[in-house]
Amino acid sequence: MTRALHLSFALALLLTLGACGETADTAAEPSQSSSEPANAPEATTLTVYKSPTCGCCADWITHVEGAGFDASIEHPQQMRAIKMQLGIKPEYSSCHTGVSEAGYVFEGHVPAKLVRRFLDNPPENALGLAVPRMPVGSPGMEMGERFEPYDVLLLKEDGGSEVYARIESPSEQY
Ligand code: CU
Ligand code: CU
Repeated sequence: MTRALHLSFALALLLTLGACGETADTAAEPSQSSSEPANAPEATTLTVYKSPTCGCCADWITHVEGAGFDASIEHPQQMRAIKMQLGIKPEYSSCHTGVSEAGYVFEGHVPAKLVRRFLDNPPENALGLAVPRMPVGSPGMEMGERFEPYDVLLLKEDGGSEVYARIESPSEQY
């Protein structure tokens, strides 16, 4: 292939990736080396339920894997039913749902470091964390320089929620 052909092939590939949002600008993502960091935390497996065609879900999985998690991916027929079973109300819903080995839920584009912080010290009567909808610029939702500040919610067993963390800038996510 000529160089120009290579380039257009790479571009076409890039454009097919972002299925549930605009194409993520991969140049804006933090660099992730393929080698393990020197003192990587012990891997924790998250089971991630998502639609097979969701591009931003795959990008979020890459983000959590880069932070030392293992992901086991499931493509259920009924995402809604899974969320209901797990106690995630529609107002807290996003695209994908992660579940830890202990059964805590991580709904949507939750920064990996907050998943880790939560699992290191789970609050009492908590179901897990959620980033409702899909804020632009959250992990897996990168679109160049665009960024929409958002709240990471602590979901409670009684169905309520409170703000677990307010994310005002991209750098607070990593
Ligand atoms: Cu998404
Ligand atoms: Cu997703």
